[in-house]
Amino acid sequence: MNNLELQKVKEKALENRVPIIMDDSLEVIAKYLEEIKPFRILEIGAAVGYSAMCFSKYLAQGGSIDTIERDEDRIIEAKENFKKVEVEDLINLYEGDAVEILPTLNDKYDVVFIDAAKGKYPFFLKEAMRMINENGVIFADNILYKGYVFSDYNDHKQRTAVRNLREYVKEVTQNPNIETEILEVGDGLAISRILKK
Ligand SMILES: C[S@@+](CC[C@H](N)C(=O)[O-])C[C@H]1O[C@@H](n2cnc3c(N)ncnc32)[C@H](O)[C@@H]1O
Repeated sequence: MNNLELQKVKEKALENRVPIIMDDSLEVIAKYLEEIKPFRILEIGAAVGYSAMCFSKYLAQGGSIDTIERDEDRIIEAKENFKKVEVEDLINLYEGDAVEILPTLNDKYDVVFIDAAKGKYPFFLKEAMRMINENGVIFADNILYKGYVFSDYNDHKQRTAVRNLREYVKEVTQNPNIETEILEVGDGLAISRILKK
């Protein structure tokens, strides 16, 4: 991996206001990945590929990452970035809407990272649960959404997103087969270990 190029990808993304994972969230996830040494990771929401490239450092020998992105410009940039950072053999990019792509996937994953449309989090969770291995971990970024999720926020504008994030939190905290921690890093990070399938 070319770390200098990875740093340049991060700087360019921040400059262009591409929403990439925040340092504190990445630090937490990296600690888990170091311990898990995942063979397969599924990411929903690649943007320009920054988080997937960061995660690729922690893959087990022979492991790989599948990631999904629907924005055409970001797809082009992500593919260029994978080459520049020299991780193109480790990361497979599915191009299109995760809502359509996920139901076509049937692989098993040790880790799933959910970081796409907030209004679709319950659907992403359902698909992640179908494909995660027992003892696997599902991370969901932006789960606190500016604090709206645990407040009485009910404005029209973000109502659907907030309602769906609340539904996600309810499912991962009330399902007895899932053990969940919610951390106030970045915009909120839910970490759910699947105890039993
Ligand atoms: C927060 S960014 C991802 C950042 C990336 N994980 C990182 O940290 O480097 C969310 C991305 O998800 C994409 N996205 C949102 N909804 C999607 C969907 N339904 N299917 C595919 N991509 C989606 C957006 O286009 C955007 O680029």
